[in-house]
Amino acid sequence: MQSDEIFWNGQPVAVIIAETQEQADYAASLVRVEYHQEEAALSFDALKSKAELPPTVYGQPPEVNIGDAETELKQAHFKSDEVYHTSRYNPSAIELHATIATWEDDDTLTVYDSTQSISLLKNTIAQVFDLAPEKVRVLAPFVGGGFGGKLYSYNNTLLCIAAAKHIRRPVKLVLSREGIFRVVGTRAPSEQRTALAATADGRFVSFIHKSIQAEVSHGFHSEPISLHGLRHLYASESRALSQKVVHLDTVANTPVRAPGDATASFALESAIDELAYMLKVDPIELRRINEPANDPVSGASFSNRNLMEAYRRGAERFGWKYRHAEPRAPRDGQWLIGQGVATAFHSYIRVPSSARICLYSDETALVQVAAQEMGMGTATVQIQYAAQQLGLPMNQVSFAYGDSNLPLSPLAGGSGQTVSILAAVAKAIEQLHQELLRLVQDDSPLAGATLQDVEARDGGLFRRDKADQGETYASLLQQAGKSHLEIVVDTPQPTEFMEYSMHEYGAQFCEVRVNDVTGEVRITRWVGSFDCGRILNPKTARSQLRGAIIMGIGMALAEDTLFDERQGRIVNASLAEYHVPVHLDIPTIDVIFLDIPDEHTPFGAHGIGEIGITGVAAAIVNAVFNATGKRIRDLPITLDKLL
Ligand code: MOS
Repeated sequence: MQSDEIFWNGQPVAVIIAETQEQADYAASLVRVEYHQEEAALSFDALKSKAELPPTVYGQPPEVNIGDAETELKQAHFKSDEVYHTSRYNPSAIELHATIATWEDDDTLTVYDSTQSISLLKNTIAQVFDLAPEKVRVLAPFVGGGFGGKLYSYNNTLLCIAAAKHIRRPVKLVLSREGIFRVVGTRAPSEQRTALAATADGRFVSFIHKSIQAEVSHGFHSEPISLHGLRHLYASESRALSQKVVHLDTVANTPVRAPGDATASFALESAIDELAYMLKVDPIELRRINEPANDPVSGASFSNRNLMEAYRRGAERFGWKYRHAEPRAPRDGQWLIGQGVATAFHSYIRVPSSARICLYSDETALVQVAAQEMGMGTATVQIQYAAQQLGLPMNQVSFAYGDSNLPLSPLAGGSGQTVSILAAVAKAIEQLHQELLRLVQDDSPLAGATLQDVEARDGGLFRRDKADQGETYASLLQQAGKSHLEIVVDTPQPTEFMEYSMHEYGAQFCEVRVNDVTGEVRITRWVGSFDCGRILNPKTARSQLRGAIIMGIGMALAEDTLFDERQGRIVNASLAEYHVPVHLDIPTIDVIFLDIPDEHTPFGAHGIGEIGITGVAAAIVNAVFNATGKRIRDLPITLDKLL
């Protein structure tokens, strides 16, 4: 609405404000728009030959060249050189994108929004409406799922705020499910040439990955395909990676769980399976042969890498040794049975955060961070760890979040929120303890004690060497005549990445049954074995990983945002026609954690929100090949491709 140009089919061109939803819907049905048509770029296939290298991919070069990978490929005897396609996927959180905007006066604004990034949204709003950031308050106390689709702000939020300003009354705007498809956008579709060549004993001599993805002409979000495990997972004598972009006039791309990693892992982990079959080597063994000693591109040491242990434990639980290497071996009537495996991978992310802690004389504590909780367990984990660090029972610690008036925190994205906040909360608690020791009276058993001399337990600080000598928080605060103590901290830019190559790893094991007559694919067993540092809360972590594996099953078998390329309009903009897995599609998902702490991260933890989706589509494709002898390189695996 900043110009008379329309950039994509589905772009909002008007906002109707009414007293009721029914009035607004009826009024919208009366709007007629006249267009002057211009040529639009709508077909990825038609334009992919014109793909260009972007200047950078998230700050990294868009190309990596080590040795002469094309020549090595040509000369090698054992090789696989194929093209893989992924489709467009919508994040499809159950909660619709919703906003309520209230202007207190011309320069003070409160916005309730279902956002994954309170701080980012607050700054965006301040910029767009030319407001002082402290005059903008964003509230997102609970968010019903996001998966990346609520990381950025889209037209709906900003238009709601503008509408409220226009009529000087609060306005609520909820996108319909169809509206989310048209406005929020999709994961970028990709074409990925993936070539691997090996010596007869399985060592990679050439590793090539050339991807093309669709971006839009009017906005920006690329999938960092070439940053995936392509740079970190496997050793190879030579390597050539590049990622190119085609610009289309469609709805913008949005981040969707594990951007880049979900996409690239499909092609890479399929290609390894293809080569393993050709070499007659077990696919896990082929990965073991190509385990790098150090990061294969940067040369840095890995901070913590137990991928092969994840495979060992997963294989044992799954019963991998009973698998037949040749396709079409086990059969149960019409059903062919196959097993497949693939590596899961995601890079560790931590960013600066702030936190406030208040300790009260009744021995309760309140931790405050403007964090986002979408059901991942963010609040639970922070309470758990703050209680442990404070030596207080969990029911005496509370966690306030979801409000931009609280100390700002990073967005809930990149699987980095929990460790980023943990580092800030741990620092705040340490400073709190230091401050408490400063308040100690001369006749206290803690007199003269330093932070190193004490531990927090039983509601106070106690000397490490003399277990019964210490004081409760209540006593410390009362002696000092204080009702409470408040500490606010910021953490600096983390430095652990500068020294180490830091990632999460996993091994996905899958069993499928494919109907030999109809091509129907059923997933019958799943084991995911993960190396994600220390697991802070097994229950919420397991739930995160299961949910992500289910999204991966959707990516492999069902999900596909379809465009009419004549009009650039999404034709299946509803959950009735954009299929996601339902309960009957999902077997019991067995999740194993190695639970090996990484000594270079806060509490030894890593992110767990996104890794679960990676490798899933490849494990399924590999299992389908093992069942049927048919290799699917275009997702989703619909029935027609198996007949
Ligand atoms: Mo995730 S796509 O960083 O929400």
